[in-house]
Amino acid sequence: MRPRIKKCMSYREYVKARPVGPLRNSIHKIISLLLHFVLFWRIRVLLYRLMGMRIIGLPYIGRECFLDPEFPELITIEDGATISSRVIIATHDSSRDLVAPVTIKTKAFVGTGAIILPGVTVGEKSVVGAGSVVTRDVGPGDVVAGNPARFVKKVEGRVKWYREGV
Ligand SMILES: CC(C)(COP(=O)(O)OP(=O)(O)OC[C@H]1O[C@@H](n2cnc3c(N)ncnc32)[C@H](O)[C@@H]1OP(=O)(O)O)[C@@H](O)C(=O)NCCC(=O)NCCS
Repeated sequence: MRPRIKKCMSYREYVKARPVGPLRNSIHKIISLLLHFVLFWRIRVLLYRLMGMRIIGLPYIGRECFLDPEFPELITIEDGATISSRVIIATHDSSRDLVAPVTIKTKAFVGTGAIILPGVTVGEKSVVGAGSVVTRDVGPGDVVAGNPARFVKKVEGRVKWYREGV
């Protein structure tokens, strides 16, 4: 596990500087609602892209996720990553008055129901256990689990969930 949040801004400062107006913001929220009814994952990926999320290549995104529709442009999901169903990714925290990006690196696996907090980078080929609350960066190839998520072990051998050739 790595140190806590590096890059963050105050919520108000970020909203002022942000190039997204209120209309576009409302459209993002409507798309976010519609996404709950979309059965096909490739269409979900396309819609998240339309919301301004930075999607590199073709990650898998499961059903009923809540990927912060307030600031979707702060979420990056890289090629071959798996975001299981009902994952939550937050890019803002009003209680701490902060906004910070979240990155899910290539071929990382985020288990169902996990919560990724602002500022976190989930490293390449790492695994986040189901239901974990991730408050700090996850190192490449690490398996983390629990609330708060703690290092469990290194990923062993060839990881089964790689979707080679997708
Ligand atoms: C994280 C995970 C991959 C680990 O599996 P594993 O390699 O078989 O690891 P183990 O079951 O040996 O667990 C190792 C330790 O982590 C703990 N642990 C495992 N998963 C955990 C979780 N989700 N939350 C909290 N602790 C967890 C175990 O209790 C064990 O602790 P112990 O050593 O004190 O007994 C797996 O438990 C998991 O959560 N998979 C995701 C499932 C999922 O999201 N499925 C839906 C989409 S496909």
